[in-house]
Amino acid sequence: MAKRTLPIEVDAAGRTPLGMAPAVFLRDYWQKRPLLIRNAFPGFETPISPEDLAGLACEEAALSRIVMHETGYSGELDQWLLRHGPFPEELFPTLPTQDWTLLVQDVDKWDADVAALLPAFDFLPRWRIDDVMVSFAAPGGSVGAHVDQYDVFLLQGLGHRRWLVDASARPPLEFRTDSELKLLTQFHPTHEWTLGPGDMLYLPPGVPHHGIAEDACLTFSIGMRAPAASELLGDFVDELIEASDESQRYADPDLVAATDPNEIDADAMQRVLVALNALRMNDPDRLGDWFGRFITQYRSAGEAMPATDLPPRIEIEWTLTHGGQLLRHPWTRMAWRRAGRGARLFAGGLSLPMPVRDARRLAAATNVGDALYAGLSQAGRDAVIELLAAGHYQLPSDEAE
Ligand code: SIN
Ligand code: CO
Repeated sequence: MAKRTLPIEVDAAGRTPLGMAPAVFLRDYWQKRPLLIRNAFPGFETPISPEDLAGLACEEAALSRIVMHETGYSGELDQWLLRHGPFPEELFPTLPTQDWTLLVQDVDKWDADVAALLPAFDFLPRWRIDDVMVSFAAPGGSVGAHVDQYDVFLLQGLGHRRWLVDASARPPLEFRTDSELKLLTQFHPTHEWTLGPGDMLYLPPGVPHHGIAEDACLTFSIGMRAPAASELLGDFVDELIEASDESQRYADPDLVAATDPNEIDADAMQRVLVALNALRMNDPDRLGDWFGRFITQYRSAGEAMPATDLPPRIEIEWTLTHGGQLLRHPWTRMAWRRAGRGARLFAGGLSLPMPVRDARRLAAATNVGDALYAGLSQAGRDAVIELLAAGHYQLPSDEAE
């Protein structure tokens, strides 16, 4: 069969943000090759202004950075400066007219209009999505040529950014040691595109790229997260150790006289496996329950705090029947999995049993109102109250943390 050459650029013309069916994108591009999608969001209007982004960068709890590139008058310098926020408001008017970028992570947790971009990516598991990072760049602003460890969708929000991408099979990946920014020592772009509002570039992990602001521009990076195998193992093993009982030990009641007392023989290794298996490492429900708790907490820069002076349940339910809504804490991630005859809803590291229908509905809803609550089973309603006590939902009058 003739090998198909896949396009690296498509025009979505507003049909779908990917310019193709999600199944085709996932099969041909996801984690495999970059794709430029023109008109992914036609007529795109930025959900956040540069001024509001700068305002957010002044907040103590927001994760923000400013990257500046100093080249000197005749380009004799090549110095990258990185400053971490929060920034004083007075800083912004003093910044130069070019060559700097302000980047703010997790803007979706602070701004509901930015979070409203996420449903466009519902072809991916939500728990794979890390955040929406928003950058504002003055003309010439860039963070240098680099690679990211995670897949990213770079959606142009305002102005224009020129992206240089090395889509070759084995790009050089050595880092410069003179900057915290992990810039590449060598960068040989194979593609160059200028993106305007509504255009989007998808990059799999490990693809060298460099985006330079052509004019003052805002870029939305919808970034993924994927735990390292070592992180998975470390967390799971910690949990197994915590639940283990020291009396569960390597045991050898079947021992026969050694032919060589210094040999670790095949029977001994079999007993090692028996001792490890006693930890129930390979029990799929145990693994699934741990993973759900792990992944709904993983890489979270903020967390819900248990509620203080919560009104009695009867009052909470009265609030719901009178139009009140419980608002999911912006940092609370939810996911669910089938377990036994029902499901487990995972929320910010908690695991709650309930019917599949309830878990599905709660995981999909950011707010719980009367209709949703009344339609839940007893287990589902109990879980909502438990999640409220743990701070994963907030009563409307509560201050967002
Ligand atoms: C940016 O928005 O300036 C940088 C995003 C990236 O390269 O990942
Ligand atoms: Co990047």
